[in-house]
Amino acid sequence: MKTTKIIATFKGLVLVGAILSSSVVAADATLYKKCAGCHGQQAEKKAMGKSKIINSMTAAEIVGALNGYKDGSYGGSMKGLMKGQVKSLDDEQIESLAQTISEMK
Ligand code: HEC
Repeated sequence: MKTTKIIATFKGLVLVGAILSSSVVAADATLYKKCAGCHGQQAEKKAMGKSKIINSMTAAEIVGALNGYKDGSYGGSMKGLMKGQVKSLDDEQIESLAQTISEMK
């Protein structure tokens, strides 16, 4: 009887954990949604044949690139396009996007 109760509690905890972790992933995925059209669902494409394959960049490199697009200090011939993508993102969102993208493979 006691064992069943412990198992039930454990199952409950696993369920709560699963719900919590999936909602965190969902938040990041929403942020990345508008990037996927050009960079691919898994960030695996060269956007418009121009960009690096961003899922092979480290989170720090991505943060550097996105902040650079924001202030105009980074990028190639199409940096104006990326500026439009990132100008409304705050530091926290950039950090979170970078983390998400660097973990996509
Ligand atoms: C309309 C297409 C498009 C969308 C949408 C887009 N990108 Fe880009 N992205 C590009 C292009 C093109 C480049 C290369 C720009 C350049 O010339 O520097 C690029 C470059 C980048 C780079 C730097 C890669 C490198 O080559 O150094 C990162 C990181 C990046 N994008 C992330 C994002 C994120 C995050 C989003 C969503 C918030 C996003 N992009 C949305 C087209 C897009």
